[in-house]
Amino acid sequence: MKELRVQPIKDGTVIDHIPPGNALKVLHILGMERNLPESVISIAINVKGKRGKKDIVKIENRELDTQEVNKIALIAPNATINIIRNYEVVEKHRVKVPDELVGIVKCGNPNCISNGREPVESRFIVKSREPLRIKCYYCEREPEDISSQII
Ligand code: CTP
Ligand code: ZN
Repeated sequence: MKELRVQPIKDGTVIDHIPPGNALKVLHILGMERNLPESVISIAINVKGKRGKKDIVKIENRELDTQEVNKIALIAPNATINIIRNYEVVEKHRVKVPDELVGIVKCGNPNCISNGREPVESRFIVKSREPLRIKCYYCEREPEDISSQII
C-alpha cells in the first residue's frame, strides 16, 4: 500500500529513511526549537517502510543547506533528501558523511583550541563511516556520542 499517513507536499524537502525515533533529532538540527519554524513541517515516526520502520520529516517551501545535510548524515546515514516541486520528486540525494566535519560537531575536550577564547572552528577527521568514528583535528579526541555534540 502506498503511504497515506502523511500527505504529499507540493513544494519543499522530504527527509526520508531516518532511523526510527530520530525525527526529533533532525528537527533539532534544523533549528526548529531555537527559531520558531516559518515553514509547515510534518513528521512521521515509526512508519512502516519497505525495509522496516523509519521516520520521515517534510518541510514545505524550504530546501536545506550543505551544513544541515552534513549534520543529518551524522544521525541518519541512510537518509534521502528529496526535493519536491509541484508534487514531483525532482531530485533525490542520499546523504553522505564528508571526509572532514568543519563547524558541525563540538569537541568535548574543554582544553581543545576549538573551545578556546579565540574563535577557531571545530574540525574533525572522519576515520570510519560504519561505524561512524571521528577524531578532532586539533586534539585528537574521539567523541563517543557524536549525535549529542552536534552544534
Ligand atoms: N513525497 C511527498 N510529497 C510528494 C512526493 C513525495 O511527501 N509530492 C515523499 C514520499 O512520501 C516519500 C519521499 O517523498 O516519503 C520520496 O518519494 P518517492 O521517491 O516517490 O518515494 P520512494 O520511491 O518510496 O522513495 P525511495 O526509493 O527513496 O524509498
Ligand atoms: Zn579537540
